[in-house]
Amino acid sequence: KRLVVLVSGSGTNLQALLDEIAALGAEAYGARVVAVGADRSGVEGLARAERAGIPTFVCRVKDHGSREEWDGALTAAVAGHEPDLVVSAGFMKIVGKEFLARFGGRLVNTHPALLPSFPGAHGVRDALAYGAKVTGCTVHFVDDGVDTGPIIAQGVVEVRDEDDESALHERIKEVERRLLVEVVGRLARNGYRIEGRKVVIQ
Ligand code: GRF
Repeated sequence: KRLVVLVSGSGTNLQALLDEIAALGAEAYGARVVAVGADRSGVEGLARAERAGIPTFVCRVKDHGSREEWDGALTAAVAGHEPDLVVSAGFMKIVGKEFLARFGGRLVNTHPALLPSFPGAHGVRDALAYGAKVTGCTVHFVDDGVDTGPIIAQGVVEVRDEDDESALHERIKEVERRLLVEVVGRLARNGYRIEGRKVVIQ
């Protein structure tokens, strides 16, 4: 299967996918990363792709006349790589209608909290501020809401008294990377269907 991965930052989730595919081979893993896209230039996630010899593209909102035009350009850039699955791995933009029309049901996101608690851009900070004693990460399909799509898998992380946002996020990311690699591989190898809110991996 062909994966396009979207990033905005450090790209450690992308790196985990690349490392697993390199270790197992694309055949055994069930998928390979055919391109990596970002909504900004110069991020470490793009550099990781370049080091692995994977084509990259950048699609910035500010280079387009409107959010809709940006969404159309992102859709076209991703579609050009003919992905079976699109993985949003720390991609900090909400995709629009055109993108979802094209890739809905094939767009996987990872979120650093146990949805439906603490959606949005500050899931780690919000869980900590709320005083949650457990949090974690959620791998889910993207629908037209913010972090509301069908859940595929979750991982739990305990909050420690001495945690700050960055320490907690680092522990979440360790679980998140393993979960994302495992889930994407299973989706790619086995196939799946989405029945309402339920994801059935065959
Ligand atoms: C992940 O925790 C993701 O869920 C969050 O941002 C982080 C991205 O990390 N939204 P990386 O860029 O994969 O290192």
